[in-house]
Amino acid sequence: MNLPANRLVVVGTGVAGLVTALSAAPRPVLLVGGSPPGSGGCTALAQGGIAAAMAFDDSAADHARDTLAAGAHHNDHDAVHYLVGDAGRAVRWLQAQGVVFDRDGDGLQLGREGGHGCSRIVHAGGDASGQALLQALADAARRAPHITWRAPAWLDAIRLCDGRVSGVALIEARTPPQELECAELVLATGGCGALFAATTNPASADGNGLALALACGARLRDAEFVQFHPTAMDVEQEGALPLITEALRGAGARLVDDQGRAVMDGHHAMGDLAPRDHVARRVWECQQTGTRVWLDATPLKGDWAQRFPTVLALCGRHGIDPRHQRIPVTPAAHFHMGGIAVGLDGSSDVPGLYAVGEVACNGVHGANRLASNSLLEGVVFGRRLGRRLADIRLHAPVHGHPRWVDRGQAADMPALRELRRLAGSALGPVRQRARMRDALDHLAVHPGLGHTWQGKLVVRFLQAALQRRKSLGAHFCVDDAG
Ligand code: SIN
Repeated sequence: MNLPANRLVVVGTGVAGLVTALSAAPRPVLLVGGSPPGSGGCTALAQGGIAAAMAFDDSAADHARDTLAAGAHHNDHDAVHYLVGDAGRAVRWLQAQGVVFDRDGDGLQLGREGGHGCSRIVHAGGDASGQALLQALADAARRAPHITWRAPAWLDAIRLCDGRVSGVALIEARTPPQELECAELVLATGGCGALFAATTNPASADGNGLALALACGARLRDAEFVQFHPTAMDVEQEGALPLITEALRGAGARLVDDQGRAVMDGHHAMGDLAPRDHVARRVWECQQTGTRVWLDATPLKGDWAQRFPTVLALCGRHGIDPRHQRIPVTPAAHFHMGGIAVGLDGSSDVPGLYAVGEVACNGVHGANRLASNSLLEGVVFGRRLGRRLADIRLHAPVHGHPRWVDRGQAADMPALRELRRLAGSALGPVRQRARMRDALDHLAVHPGLGHTWQGKLVVRFLQAALQRRKSLGAHFCVDDAG
Protein backbone atom coordinates (compact mmCIF):
# COMPACT_ATOMS: atom_id res chain seq x y z
CA MET A 1 0.00 0.00 0.00
CA ASN A 2 1.16 3.54 -0.72
CA LEU A 3 1.22 5.37 2.61
CA PRO A 4 0.57 9.13 2.37
CA ALA A 5 4.21 9.85 3.27
CA ASN A 6 5.18 7.88 0.15
CA ARG A 7 2.76 9.77 -2.02
CA LEU A 8 3.66 10.80 -5.55
CA VAL A 9 2.17 14.12 -6.65
CA VAL A 10 2.25 15.28 -10.27
CA VAL A 11 1.31 18.93 -10.87
CA GLY A 12 0.27 19.77 -14.40
CA THR A 13 -2.22 18.06 -16.68
CA GLY A 14 -0.74 18.92 -20.07
CA VAL A 15 0.99 16.25 -22.11
CA ALA A 16 4.09 15.93 -19.85
CA GLY A 17 2.12 15.60 -16.61
CA LEU A 18 -0.41 13.14 -18.04
CA VAL A 19 2.26 10.93 -19.60
CA THR A 20 4.30 10.91 -16.38
CA ALA A 21 1.24 9.99 -14.31
CA LEU A 22 0.18 7.24 -16.72
CA SER A 23 3.69 5.80 -16.90
CA ALA A 24 4.08 5.67 -13.11
CA ALA A 25 1.54 2.79 -12.93
CA PRO A 26 0.92 0.88 -10.77
CA ARG A 27 2.19 3.39 -8.21
CA PRO A 28 -0.69 5.59 -6.99
CA VAL A 29 -0.47 9.16 -8.28
CA LEU A 30 -2.24 12.31 -7.19
CA LEU A 31 -2.59 14.37 -10.37
CA VAL A 32 -3.20 18.08 -9.83
CA GLY A 33 -4.33 20.42 -12.62
CA GLY A 34 -5.54 23.99 -12.87
CA SER A 35 -8.24 23.20 -15.42
CA PRO A 36 -10.76 20.39 -15.82
CA PRO A 37 -9.34 17.13 -17.27
CA GLY A 38 -8.67 17.36 -20.99
CA SER A 39 -8.67 21.14 -21.26
CA GLY A 40 -6.51 24.22 -20.74
CA GLY A 41 -2.77 24.85 -20.78
CA CYS A 42 -0.36 25.05 -23.69
CA THR A 43 -0.95 21.48 -24.87
CA ALA A 44 -4.55 22.28 -25.78
CA LEU A 45 -3.35 25.10 -28.07
CA ALA A 46 -0.56 23.14 -29.75
CA GLN A 47 -1.13 22.93 -33.49
CA GLY A 48 2.14 21.36 -34.55
CA GLY A 49 2.38 17.64 -34.03
CA ILE A 50 5.10 15.23 -33.05
CA ALA A 51 8.40 14.98 -34.89
CA ALA A 52 9.51 11.38 -35.46
CA ALA A 53 11.68 9.87 -38.18
CA MET A 54 9.12 7.45 -39.60
CA ALA A 55 9.57 7.84 -43.35
CA PHE A 56 11.60 5.09 -45.09
CA ASP A 57 14.24 7.62 -46.18
CA ASP A 58 14.46 9.37 -42.79
CA SER A 59 16.44 8.40 -39.70
CA ALA A 60 16.88 9.26 -36.03
CA ALA A 61 20.36 10.52 -36.96
CA ASP A 62 18.84 13.04 -39.40
CA HIS A 63 16.30 14.12 -36.79
CA ALA A 64 19.17 14.59 -34.31
CA ARG A 65 21.14 16.62 -36.88
CA ASP A 66 18.20 19.00 -37.41
CA THR A 67 17.54 19.26 -33.65
CA LEU A 68 21.18 20.19 -33.02
CA ALA A 69 21.34 22.67 -35.91
CA ALA A 70 18.15 24.43 -34.74
CA GLY A 71 19.50 24.44 -31.16
CA ALA A 72 22.74 26.14 -32.32
CA HIS A 73 24.60 23.05 -31.00
CA HIS A 74 24.02 24.21 -27.44
CA ASN A 75 22.02 20.98 -26.85
CA ASP A 76 22.83 18.16 -24.47
CA HIS A 77 23.78 15.38 -26.88
CA ASP A 78 22.62 12.50 -24.67
CA ALA A 79 19.21 14.13 -24.30
CA VAL A 80 18.91 14.67 -28.06
CA HIS A 81 19.86 11.09 -28.89
CA TYR A 82 17.43 9.74 -26.32
CA LEU A 83 14.66 11.99 -27.68
CA VAL A 84 15.03 11.10 -31.35
CA GLY A 85 15.77 7.43 -30.62
CA ASP A 86 12.54 7.05 -28.65
CA ALA A 87 10.32 9.13 -30.98
CA GLY A 88 8.89 6.20 -32.98
CA ARG A 89 8.11 4.28 -29.77
CA ALA A 90 6.48 7.41 -28.34
CA VAL A 91 4.16 7.66 -31.37
CA ARG A 92 3.20 3.98 -31.05
CA TRP A 93 2.65 4.37 -27.29
CA LEU A 94 0.35 7.33 -27.96
CA GLN A 95 -1.59 5.24 -30.47
CA ALA A 96 -1.98 2.57 -27.80
CA GLN A 97 -3.39 5.25 -25.47
CA GLY A 98 -6.03 6.07 -28.09
CA VAL A 99 -4.48 8.92 -30.11
CA VAL A 100 -5.56 8.68 -33.74
CA PHE A 101 -2.94 10.22 -36.03
CA ASP A 102 -3.81 11.47 -39.51
CA ARG A 103 -3.17 8.95 -42.24
CA ASP A 104 -2.14 9.16 -45.83
CA GLY A 105 -2.92 6.00 -47.78
CA ASP A 106 -1.41 3.11 -45.83
CA GLY A 107 0.84 5.09 -43.51
CA LEU A 108 0.85 8.12 -41.24
CA GLN A 109 0.67 11.50 -42.95
CA LEU A 110 3.97 13.31 -42.48
CA GLY A 111 4.10 17.11 -42.57
CA ARG A 112 7.02 19.49 -42.64
CA GLU A 113 7.93 22.43 -40.40
CA GLY A 114 10.79 24.88 -39.97
CA GLY A 115 14.30 23.50 -39.46
CA HIS A 116 13.40 19.96 -40.60
CA GLY A 117 15.28 18.61 -43.59
CA CYS A 118 12.30 16.45 -44.61
CA SER A 119 8.65 15.74 -43.80
CA ARG A 120 8.53 14.04 -40.39
CA ILE A 121 5.71 15.58 -38.34
CA VAL A 122 2.71 13.45 -37.44
CA HIS A 123 -0.53 15.30 -36.68
CA ALA A 124 -3.84 14.34 -35.15
CA GLY A 125 -7.00 16.13 -36.30
CA GLY A 126 -4.93 18.27 -38.70
CA ASP A 127 -3.67 21.30 -36.79
CA ALA A 128 -5.59 20.30 -33.63
CA SER A 129 -2.87 17.85 -32.53
CA GLY A 130 -2.47 19.18 -28.99
CA GLN A 131 -6.18 18.96 -28.25
CA ALA A 132 -6.37 15.45 -29.74
CA LEU A 133 -3.47 14.27 -27.58
CA LEU A 134 -4.83 15.92 -24.49
CA GLN A 135 -8.25 14.35 -24.95
CA ALA A 136 -6.93 10.83 -25.47
CA LEU A 137 -4.42 11.04 -22.60
CA ALA A 138 -6.95 12.59 -20.21
CA ASP A 139 -9.42 9.80 -21.07
CA ALA A 140 -6.71 7.20 -20.45
CA ALA A 141 -5.81 8.87 -17.14
CA ARG A 142 -9.47 8.94 -16.09
CA ARG A 143 -9.69 5.20 -16.73
CA ALA A 144 -6.40 4.45 -14.93
CA PRO A 145 -7.10 3.04 -11.45
CA HIS A 146 -3.77 4.31 -10.06
CA ILE A 147 -4.53 7.99 -10.80
CA THR A 148 -6.59 10.30 -8.57
CA TRP A 149 -7.41 13.70 -10.09
CA ARG A 150 -7.55 16.98 -8.26
CA ALA A 151 -8.78 19.63 -10.70
CA PRO A 152 -9.16 22.49 -10.68
CA ALA A 153 -6.50 22.76 -7.98
CA TRP A 154 -3.21 24.64 -7.72
CA LEU A 155 0.09 24.08 -5.97
CA ASP A 156 0.55 26.83 -3.39
CA ALA A 157 3.63 25.76 -1.44
CA ILE A 158 6.15 22.98 -0.99
CA ARG A 159 7.30 21.61 2.36
CA LEU A 160 10.97 20.77 2.67
CA CYS A 161 12.40 18.66 5.47
CA ASP A 162 16.18 18.77 5.69
CA GLY A 163 16.15 20.11 2.14
CA ARG A 164 14.00 17.23 0.83
CA VAL A 165 10.44 17.48 -0.48
CA SER A 166 8.07 16.16 2.18
CA GLY A 167 4.73 17.80 1.44
CA VAL A 168 2.62 20.11 -0.68
CA ALA A 169 -0.10 22.67 0.01
CA LEU A 170 -2.88 22.67 -2.57
CA ILE A 171 -5.54 25.26 -3.18
CA GLU A 172 -8.94 24.32 -4.52
CA ALA A 173 -11.70 26.78 -5.29
CA ARG A 174 -13.36 28.21 -2.19
CA THR A 175 -11.46 26.03 0.30
CA PRO A 176 -8.46 26.89 2.48
CA PRO A 177 -5.09 25.41 1.38
CA GLN A 178 -4.83 21.72 2.13
CA GLU A 179 -1.53 20.26 3.31
CA LEU A 180 -0.57 16.78 2.15
CA GLU A 181 2.42 14.58 2.82
CA CYS A 182 4.36 13.54 -0.24
CA ALA A 183 7.67 11.88 -1.01
CA GLU A 184 8.07 12.87 -4.65
CA LEU A 185 6.73 15.90 -6.46
CA VAL A 186 6.79 16.29 -10.23
CA LEU A 187 6.37 19.75 -11.72
CA ALA A 188 4.90 19.62 -15.21
CA THR A 189 3.55 23.15 -15.04
CA GLY A 190 4.54 24.37 -18.53
CA GLY A 191 6.33 27.51 -19.64
CA CYS A 192 6.32 31.21 -18.97
CA GLY A 193 5.22 32.91 -22.22
CA ALA A 194 2.49 34.76 -20.32
CA LEU A 195 5.23 36.94 -18.77
CA PHE A 196 5.68 38.54 -22.23
CA ALA A 197 3.50 41.17 -23.87
CA ALA A 198 2.97 39.19 -27.06
CA THR A 199 2.65 35.45 -26.57
CA THR A 200 0.95 32.38 -27.95
CA ASN A 201 0.68 30.96 -24.40
CA PRO A 202 -2.38 31.02 -22.15
CA ALA A 203 -2.37 33.09 -18.92
CA SER A 204 -1.66 29.95 -16.88
CA ALA A 205 1.79 29.62 -18.53
CA ASP A 206 3.25 32.27 -16.24
CA GLY A 207 6.25 30.44 -14.80
CA ASN A 208 4.50 29.57 -11.52
CA GLY A 209 6.16 26.14 -11.24
CA LEU A 210 9.55 27.52 -12.14
CA ALA A 211 9.23 30.27 -9.50
CA LEU A 212 8.32 27.77 -6.79
CA ALA A 213 11.16 25.41 -7.70
CA LEU A 214 13.66 28.29 -7.61
CA ALA A 215 12.33 29.37 -4.21
CA CYS A 216 13.07 25.80 -3.02
CA GLY A 217 16.68 26.13 -4.18
CA ALA A 218 16.47 24.40 -7.56
CA ARG A 219 18.94 25.53 -10.20
CA LEU A 220 17.87 27.55 -13.23
CA ARG A 221 19.44 26.63 -16.56
CA ASP A 222 19.54 28.44 -19.93
CA ALA A 223 16.99 31.04 -18.81
CA GLU A 224 17.93 33.49 -21.58
CA PHE A 225 16.66 31.24 -24.36
CA VAL A 226 13.07 32.22 -25.06
CA GLN A 227 11.68 31.16 -28.41
CA PHE A 228 9.48 33.55 -30.38
CA HIS A 229 7.10 31.96 -32.83
CA PRO A 230 7.30 34.00 -36.04
CA THR A 231 3.64 33.67 -36.97
CA ALA A 232 1.24 34.59 -34.22
CA MET A 233 -1.72 36.44 -35.70
CA ASP A 234 -1.07 40.18 -35.49
CA VAL A 235 -4.32 41.34 -33.92
CA GLU A 236 -5.12 43.69 -31.03
CA GLN A 237 -6.13 41.60 -28.06
CA GLU A 238 -5.10 41.04 -24.49
CA GLY A 239 -3.82 37.57 -23.67
CA ALA A 240 -2.64 34.84 -26.01
CA LEU A 241 -2.39 35.75 -29.68
CA PRO A 242 -3.79 33.12 -32.05
CA LEU A 243 -1.06 30.78 -33.31
CA ILE A 244 -0.77 30.28 -37.05
CA THR A 245 0.96 26.95 -37.43
CA GLU A 246 4.29 26.57 -39.16
CA ALA A 247 2.82 23.53 -40.92
CA LEU A 248 1.22 26.04 -43.32
CA ARG A 249 4.69 27.09 -44.46
CA GLY A 250 5.57 23.40 -44.64
CA ALA A 251 2.67 23.04 -47.06
CA GLY A 252 3.81 25.99 -49.18
CA ALA A 253 2.58 29.23 -47.54
CA ARG A 254 5.02 32.17 -47.77
CA LEU A 255 5.88 35.13 -45.60
CA VAL A 256 5.46 38.33 -47.61
CA ASP A 257 5.50 42.09 -47.13
CA ASP A 258 2.79 44.59 -48.06
CA GLN A 259 3.87 44.38 -51.70
CA GLY A 260 3.73 40.59 -51.72
CA ARG A 261 7.55 40.20 -51.77
CA ALA A 262 8.87 37.09 -50.01
CA VAL A 263 10.62 38.37 -46.88
CA MET A 264 12.79 35.31 -46.22
CA ASP A 265 14.38 35.29 -49.68
CA GLY A 266 18.12 35.82 -49.35
CA HIS A 267 18.07 35.54 -45.55
CA HIS A 268 18.51 31.81 -44.94
CA ALA A 269 19.18 28.82 -47.14
CA MET A 270 15.99 27.16 -45.87
CA GLY A 271 13.92 30.26 -46.70
CA ASP A 272 10.48 30.26 -45.07
CA LEU A 273 11.35 26.96 -43.40
CA ALA A 274 14.45 28.22 -41.61
CA PRO A 275 14.60 27.48 -37.86
CA ARG A 276 12.21 29.64 -35.89
CA ASP A 277 14.75 32.03 -34.36
CA HIS A 278 15.89 33.17 -37.82
CA VAL A 279 12.36 33.65 -39.13
CA ALA A 280 11.18 35.46 -35.99
CA ARG A 281 14.12 37.88 -36.21
CA ARG A 282 13.46 38.58 -39.87
CA VAL A 283 9.77 39.33 -39.22
CA TRP A 284 10.79 41.56 -36.28
CA GLU A 285 13.33 43.43 -38.48
CA CYS A 286 10.68 44.08 -41.14
CA GLN A 287 8.37 45.45 -38.47
CA GLN A 288 11.07 47.84 -37.24
CA THR A 289 11.15 49.46 -40.68
CA GLY A 290 7.38 49.87 -40.65
CA THR A 291 6.72 46.88 -42.92
CA ARG A 292 3.85 44.64 -41.96
CA VAL A 293 4.43 40.94 -42.57
CA TRP A 294 1.75 38.57 -43.81
CA LEU A 295 1.47 34.84 -44.22
CA ASP A 296 0.19 34.12 -47.69
CA ALA A 297 -1.46 30.70 -47.58
CA THR A 298 -3.81 31.39 -50.48
CA PRO A 299 -1.93 29.13 -52.96
CA LEU A 300 -2.47 26.08 -50.71
CA LYS A 301 -4.57 23.39 -52.28
CA GLY A 302 -6.35 20.60 -50.46
CA ASP A 303 -8.91 20.31 -47.75
CA TRP A 304 -8.46 23.17 -45.29
CA ALA A 305 -11.21 21.92 -43.01
CA GLN A 306 -9.43 18.61 -42.62
CA ARG A 307 -5.80 19.81 -42.42
CA PHE A 308 -6.08 23.26 -40.83
CA PRO A 309 -9.43 23.46 -39.01
CA THR A 310 -7.92 25.41 -36.08
CA VAL A 311 -6.33 28.11 -38.25
CA LEU A 312 -9.50 28.36 -40.31
CA ALA A 313 -11.58 28.90 -37.16
CA LEU A 314 -9.11 31.33 -35.53
CA CYS A 315 -8.89 33.42 -38.71
CA GLY A 316 -12.67 33.30 -39.08
CA ARG A 317 -13.02 34.86 -35.62
CA HIS A 318 -11.01 37.82 -36.90
CA GLY A 319 -12.87 38.15 -40.19
CA ILE A 320 -10.09 36.60 -42.30
CA ASP A 321 -10.57 33.78 -44.79
CA PRO A 322 -7.00 32.39 -45.16
CA ARG A 323 -7.98 30.53 -48.34
CA HIS A 324 -8.38 33.90 -50.05
CA GLN A 325 -6.74 36.49 -47.79
CA ARG A 326 -3.29 36.93 -46.28
CA ILE A 327 -2.92 36.64 -42.51
CA PRO A 328 -1.08 39.45 -40.64
CA VAL A 329 1.62 37.92 -38.42
CA THR A 330 3.97 38.95 -35.64
CA PRO A 331 6.56 37.17 -33.47
CA ALA A 332 5.26 36.13 -30.04
CA ALA A 333 6.88 34.40 -27.05
CA HIS A 334 6.13 30.73 -27.56
CA PHE A 335 8.48 28.38 -25.71
CA HIS A 336 11.12 28.53 -22.98
CA MET A 337 14.13 26.37 -23.76
CA GLY A 338 15.46 27.10 -20.26
CA GLY A 339 13.95 25.96 -16.99
CA ILE A 340 14.59 23.95 -13.85
CA ALA A 341 17.91 22.17 -14.40
CA VAL A 342 17.23 18.43 -14.47
CA GLY A 343 18.96 15.25 -15.55
CA LEU A 344 17.52 12.96 -18.20
CA ASP A 345 15.43 11.26 -15.52
CA GLY A 346 13.83 14.58 -14.50
CA SER A 347 15.54 14.91 -11.11
CA SER A 348 16.41 18.43 -9.96
CA ASP A 349 19.01 19.50 -7.40
CA VAL A 350 16.34 19.39 -4.68
CA PRO A 351 15.86 15.81 -3.46
CA GLY A 352 12.34 14.59 -4.20
CA LEU A 353 11.63 17.41 -6.71
CA TYR A 354 11.34 16.43 -10.38
CA ALA A 355 10.42 18.44 -13.45
CA VAL A 356 9.37 17.46 -16.96
CA GLY A 357 8.21 19.23 -20.11
CA GLU A 358 8.62 22.94 -20.71
CA VAL A 359 9.20 23.89 -17.06
CA ALA A 360 12.27 21.64 -17.07
CA CYS A 361 15.57 22.02 -18.86
CA ASN A 362 17.61 18.91 -19.56
CA GLY A 363 19.31 20.69 -22.43
CA VAL A 364 17.52 18.78 -25.19
CA HIS A 365 16.47 21.90 -27.12
CA GLY A 366 19.74 23.79 -26.84
CA ALA A 367 19.41 27.48 -27.63
CA ASN A 368 16.34 27.12 -29.86
CA ARG A 369 13.81 24.30 -30.06
CA LEU A 370 13.18 22.50 -33.33
CA ALA A 371 9.51 22.59 -34.41
CA SER A 372 7.29 19.81 -33.04
CA ASN A 373 9.94 18.56 -30.61
CA SER A 374 8.02 19.83 -27.57
CA LEU A 375 5.03 17.47 -27.45
CA LEU A 376 7.59 14.79 -28.27
CA GLU A 377 9.74 15.86 -25.31
CA GLY A 378 6.72 15.66 -22.99
CA VAL A 379 5.94 12.12 -24.11
CA VAL A 380 9.50 10.76 -24.24
CA PHE A 381 10.78 12.23 -20.99
CA GLY A 382 7.41 11.86 -19.24
CA ARG A 383 7.51 8.13 -19.96
CA ARG A 384 11.07 7.88 -18.72
CA LEU A 385 10.33 9.80 -15.52
CA GLY A 386 7.08 7.94 -14.83
CA ARG A 387 8.81 4.56 -15.14
CA ARG A 388 11.58 5.67 -12.83
CA LEU A 389 9.14 6.91 -10.19
CA ALA A 390 7.16 3.67 -10.43
CA ASP A 391 10.29 1.81 -9.39
CA ILE A 392 10.83 3.76 -6.17
CA ARG A 393 9.28 1.54 -3.56
CA LEU A 394 11.12 2.30 -0.34
CA HIS A 395 11.20 5.73 1.20
CA ALA A 396 13.48 6.44 4.13
CA PRO A 397 11.63 8.20 6.95
CA VAL A 398 12.13 11.97 6.78
CA HIS A 399 13.38 13.69 9.94
CA GLY A 400 14.32 17.25 10.66
CA HIS A 401 12.65 20.60 10.82
CA PRO A 402 9.96 21.15 8.17
CA ARG A 403 9.91 24.45 6.29
CA TRP A 404 7.20 25.68 3.95
CA VAL A 405 8.32 27.46 0.79
CA ASP A 406 6.00 29.55 -1.35
CA ARG A 407 6.54 31.87 -4.30
CA GLY A 408 6.21 35.10 -2.36
CA GLN A 409 4.29 38.19 -3.35
CA ALA A 410 2.32 37.99 -6.61
CA ALA A 411 2.05 40.89 -9.05
CA ASP A 412 -1.36 42.51 -9.36
CA MET A 413 -2.84 43.01 -12.83
CA PRO A 414 -1.40 46.50 -13.53
CA ALA A 415 2.05 45.33 -12.37
CA LEU A 416 1.76 42.21 -14.51
CA ARG A 417 0.91 44.30 -17.58
CA GLU A 418 3.95 46.48 -16.94
CA LEU A 419 6.20 43.44 -16.48
CA ARG A 420 4.98 41.90 -19.70
CA ARG A 421 5.66 45.12 -21.58
CA LEU A 422 9.15 45.29 -20.06
CA ALA A 423 9.99 41.62 -20.77
CA GLY A 424 8.58 41.88 -24.29
CA SER A 425 10.74 44.87 -25.19
CA ALA A 426 13.96 43.89 -23.36
CA LEU A 427 13.92 40.13 -24.00
CA GLY A 428 12.36 39.99 -27.47
CA PRO A 429 13.70 38.27 -30.62
CA VAL A 430 16.34 41.01 -30.99
CA ARG A 431 17.93 42.32 -27.78
CA GLN A 432 20.14 45.24 -26.79
CA ARG A 433 22.37 45.35 -23.73
CA ALA A 434 21.36 48.89 -22.80
CA ARG A 435 17.69 48.01 -22.92
CA MET A 436 18.21 44.91 -20.77
CA ARG A 437 20.19 46.94 -18.21
CA ASP A 438 17.49 49.63 -18.16
CA ALA A 439 14.88 46.96 -17.54
CA LEU A 440 16.90 45.58 -14.60
CA ASP A 441 17.30 49.10 -13.14
CA HIS A 442 13.59 49.73 -13.52
CA LEU A 443 12.74 46.50 -11.68
CA ALA A 444 15.23 47.34 -8.91
CA VAL A 445 13.62 50.70 -8.13
CA HIS A 446 10.01 49.52 -8.44
CA PRO A 447 9.58 46.91 -5.70
CA GLY A 448 5.91 46.49 -6.71
CA LEU A 449 7.32 44.93 -9.88
CA GLY A 450 10.78 43.60 -9.05
CA HIS A 451 9.89 42.03 -5.70
CA THR A 452 6.99 40.01 -7.00
CA TRP A 453 7.67 36.40 -7.95
CA GLN A 454 6.93 37.20 -11.58
CA GLY A 455 9.31 40.18 -11.40
CA LYS A 456 12.02 38.02 -9.84
CA LEU A 457 11.72 35.59 -12.74
CA VAL A 458 12.10 38.39 -15.28
CA VAL A 459 15.16 39.60 -13.33
CA ARG A 460 16.69 36.11 -13.56
CA PHE A 461 16.03 36.01 -17.32
CA LEU A 462 17.59 39.45 -17.81
CA GLN A 463 20.65 38.54 -15.74
CA ALA A 464 21.14 35.34 -17.73
CA ALA A 465 20.81 37.23 -21.02
CA LEU A 466 23.32 39.86 -19.90
CA GLN A 467 25.79 37.20 -18.81
CA ARG A 468 25.85 35.62 -22.26
CA ARG A 469 28.45 37.51 -24.24
CA LYS A 470 27.69 36.08 -27.69
CA SER A 471 24.45 35.75 -29.58
CA LEU A 472 23.32 32.15 -29.76
CA GLY A 473 20.09 30.65 -31.05
CA ALA A 474 17.07 32.45 -29.67
CA HIS A 475 19.26 34.82 -27.66
CA PHE A 476 20.23 37.41 -30.24
CA CYS A 477 21.81 40.60 -28.97
CA VAL A 478 22.76 43.32 -31.48
CA ASP A 479 25.78 44.29 -29.35
CA ASP A 480 27.24 40.75 -29.42
CA ALA A 481 26.05 39.45 -32.78
CA GLY A 482 27.47 36.02 -33.64
C1 SIN B 1 3.40 25.33 -34.83
O1 SIN B 1 2.46 24.60 -35.14
O2 SIN B 1 3.86 26.17 -35.60
C2 SIN B 1 4.00 25.21 -33.46
C3 SIN B 1 4.58 23.88 -33.27
C4 SIN B 1 5.66 23.90 -32.21
O3 SIN B 1 5.61 24.72 -31.31
O4 SIN B 1 6.59 23.10 -32.33
